[in-house]
Amino acid sequence: SRRVAILLSGSGSNMVALLDSMTGDHPARPALVLSNRADAGGLQKAAARGVPTEVVDHRPHGPDRAAFEETLHARLMDYRPDIICLAGFMRVLTEGFVARWQGRMINIHPSLLPRYRGLDTHARALAAGDAEAGCTVHEVTAALDDGPILGQARVPVVDGDTPETLAARVLQMEHRLYPAVLRRFASGDRSPVWLP
Ligand code: GAR
Repeated sequence: SRRVAILLSGSGSNMVALLDSMTGDHPARPALVLSNRADAGGLQKAAARGVPTEVVDHRPHGPDRAAFEETLHARLMDYRPDIICLAGFMRVLTEGFVARWQGRMINIHPSLLPRYRGLDTHARALAAGDAEAGCTVHEVTAALDDGPILGQARVPVVDGDTPETLAARVLQMEHRLYPAVLRRFASGDRSPVWLP
């Protein structure tokens, strides 16, 4: 089966949803969970599920993204992943790194792309008065939060929503969307998943 490395920087709830999905007849299995932050909550959750973990700290490299990515790439290669899933990995990747994993690296983003690339997606959706929000899984290309869409899920914006309440509603959908897309992607099918 295909070997999956999951990269994260935070609490790792999407990572847990992905790990929990990779059982039975699933075409992939987890090979590694890697964080750029040693204090990311996701690392303990992965270890508790018996998945190898690694930390590659970006800070010693300062602003030199390529140097960080050399270390990152080398550590990844120790685990021979076929697929990389970015799951709340908060480092922008350079064109060089992306090229090495082109067609094999996917990301989840908390907006209905192409709307709201980058940060603060929920606050921006509320400020715009959007009636709907959501999340997108896409192939990673050199352009930030661009790349072919592999799946998208929508949620309503409701009266009184704050960025936090909207984020929580979207996150629930992320936990459904990302496993659905990974299963399809790992089987070689790039046709998009639309939820709900
Ligand atoms: C998720 O909402 C994910 O879409 C977002 O970070 C959160 C991570 O939560 N990703 C980005 O903003 C990428 N720029 P998690 O650690 O609980 O999965």
